[in-house]
Amino acid sequence: MDIRELDVTDPDARRRWYDVQDRSARADRPYALLQAFDAFEVSATQPGPYAERVRWEAHDGDRLVGVAELELPLAENLDLGWAEVHVLPEHRRRGVGRALWHVLADRARAAGRTRAGGEVSVDLAVAGAGFDFATAMGAVEKHREDHLVADLPVAPLGIHPDYELVTWRGRCPDEHREHYLAMRNQMNADVPAGELDVETTVLDDARLAASEERLARSYDVRVAAARRRSDGVLGGYSLLFVPHGADHAWQDDTLVMPSHRGHRLGGALKAAAYAALPPSITLVHTWTAPSNTAMHRTNTAMGFRVVEHMYEVEIPLA
Ligand SMILES: CC(C)(COP(=O)(O)OP(=O)(O)OC[C@H]1O[C@@H](n2cnc3c(N)ncnc32)[C@H](O)[C@@H]1OP(=O)(O)O)[C@@H](O)C(=O)NCCC(=O)NCCS
Repeated sequence: MDIRELDVTDPDARRRWYDVQDRSARADRPYALLQAFDAFEVSATQPGPYAERVRWEAHDGDRLVGVAELELPLAENLDLGWAEVHVLPEHRRRGVGRALWHVLADRARAAGRTRAGGEVSVDLAVAGAGFDFATAMGAVEKHREDHLVADLPVAPLGIHPDYELVTWRGRCPDEHREHYLAMRNQMNADVPAGELDVETTVLDDARLAASEERLARSYDVRVAAARRRSDGVLGGYSLLFVPHGADHAWQDDTLVMPSHRGHRLGGALKAAAYAALPPSITLVHTWTAPSNTAMHRTNTAMGFRVVEHMYEVEIPLA
């Protein structure tokens, strides 16, 4: 077996790499939500300033049998590398995954990283190898989230009368940026991370703008926010990504600021965002920590059901 770095300047090689990742992940995860090809292309060909990514291919003769990716954060979490390993189902249990992992771990160490983090998703009905593989490589579980899906449409939910709905697509309008940044940073600080010890990403206007600009190349980004009528303050938001051309949406953050809680704004924002989607979008994915009781209740009341467990794991690289 031969392991080499992906040549990101070669479009055919990029496509083959992406297809192996996609086929491997889907083999035992019917509800896998994977990075769309568009988004992969942006990440591979136009790297941003906040992370470096290295990708490898494992070849058996002239066949591509596995791939791996290491993400090295450059602005925070400088002791950490994010790892992902994929092997095609018909080539598993022959040491390909282990060999890719060793190459990846060596590169992470060479970049000064002392631990690797990873996300392993396990379908509730179909047995998968990811968790056992990660454990065999020395991983310990640090945090778990539930991956939930809901079929659209969901029942509408009105917004509390003290608030009005504000929505935008793509870039946050100037008039809302200050409040939106405060909410995004509150979200990053608040989101339950279990025992996973990671530094919080702090967004300033420039970093938000860079992220908006990159995301727009691959996703229709939709935000629904609740503005308090009395003073115009934004009290909560919900962030939704729709990959270009897809039939599904990905519910990212939903946050209600502490002093605005207790008005069922979270559910109202999500329902409003889903109602505004085109009818071609028939499924929404989301992730919630089981310990996040308020969000779990909101989700299940809206019709979300748990389909996978997503484990955040860590492997010491010392
Ligand atoms: C996880 C995955 C990468 C393993 O690839 P692989 O080439 O089969 O792995 P290896 O043959 O190198 O296995 C290394 C060790 O992992 C463990 N392991 C791998 N698959 C396993 C399984 N199905 N059940 C139990 N243990 C398993 C074993 O300890 C194995 O060592 P052994 O064969 O000597 O017993 C592959 O199954 C895959 O691509 N799955 C989907 C993607 C994924 O979940 N990736 C991991 C998260 S990043």
